[in-house]
Amino acid sequence: MTPPGSALGAITVRPVSRTLPPPPQTSFASDNAAGVSPEVMAALAAANLGSALAYGDDHWTRRAEVAIAELFEAPVISLACWGGTGANVVGLASVLRPWQAVIATNAAHIVTDECGAPARFSGATVAPVPHVNGKLEPEALAGYLDWFGTEHHPQPAVLSVSQATELGTIYTIEELAALADAAHRAGMLLHLDGARIANAVASSGSSMPEMVRDTGVDLMTFGFTKNGAMYGELVVYLRPELAADARFVRKQASQLTSKSRFVAAQVLALVEGGLWLRNADHANRMARRLAEGVGRIQGVEIAHPPEANAVFARIPQWAIPPLQEWSYFWEWDSSQSLVRWMTSFATTIADVDAFVAGVAAVIG
Ligand SMILES: Cc1ncc(COP(=O)(O)O)c(C=O)c1O
Repeated sequence: MTPPGSALGAITVRPVSRTLPPPPQTSFASDNAAGVSPEVMAALAAANLGSALAYGDDHWTRRAEVAIAELFEAPVISLACWGGTGANVVGLASVLRPWQAVIATNAAHIVTDECGAPARFSGATVAPVPHVNGKLEPEALAGYLDWFGTEHHPQPAVLSVSQATELGTIYTIEELAALADAAHRAGMLLHLDGARIANAVASSGSSMPEMVRDTGVDLMTFGFTKNGAMYGELVVYLRPELAADARFVRKQASQLTSKSRFVAAQVLALVEGGLWLRNADHANRMARRLAEGVGRIQGVEIAHPPEANAVFARIPQWAIPPLQEWSYFWEWDSSQSLVRWMTSFATTIADVDAFVAGVAAVIG
């Protein structure tokens, strides 16, 4: 048996002898671990009555298109897709040529978590740049500006940012506008991966038009799955002319759902009465409560204050396995002993308090 505090390689091992409290009822591993908002379930059941033409030729899809244009207060074009990777693929592949490049941070989902799908479907190069707390800074573009016009280099055509970022931070309106400005001055487009755009809008207190239309975003993924949908995301083109080839790209990328009415019904359930913002706001509040709770435990260091629905914390390496066994979550960066805890619309106050109690029992 390993004595308390002895070193095992680089890891200090300590036995966890305390009895742990009951684990929370919901998972802090991911907002994707949550189920479906009851209102969305009801909307799916309602859309299940009778038949409707397939491939978006139905009244739910038409209503959702109008609802999205109203939400953005602009004549946007929106296309339903199955999932977030697929929506990023469709958006990017519809505006990129094979000799071009999309620039994103080296933490971006399109760089690290989509198995190269955007590069495969667009043929373009995905060029990663460093980030600061998950955010891309306009200066990061500088190194690529020399590539313009030289046939040996992929031609930078799109800047892609995630809002909220993969590190749970939020670009301010000014930061997004500065990035759009930098991209446009270089003749590039600004793409926004909005898998968690609802959390960002709810956290910022700005409206969707203020955050996206007025800052100069050209096209985006509007995520619903993490916000309470069962599946389904939209690609939203703020400049309608960019969508000229989008329907062909979507079909070829296997993202055209035949029973599209079920995506549209979910979008309507979330958007029409503002549930998308209420769900996101709840998730954000649960993350803040979690950060406050675990932040009081000696041995837990919050990496940065949560701005959306993720808490990143440094905890002792030895505490990670027993905590994961008790209530699973992901270790984000083992070199920093950095873990990620995520909340969702389904996280309750009791879940947060139970999780804090477990962390305190192991580490405190
Ligand atoms: C930033 C970001 N973009 C996109 C996605 C969409 O991924 P998926 O294809 O799993 O829906 C995710 C999911 O975790 C994400 O975190």
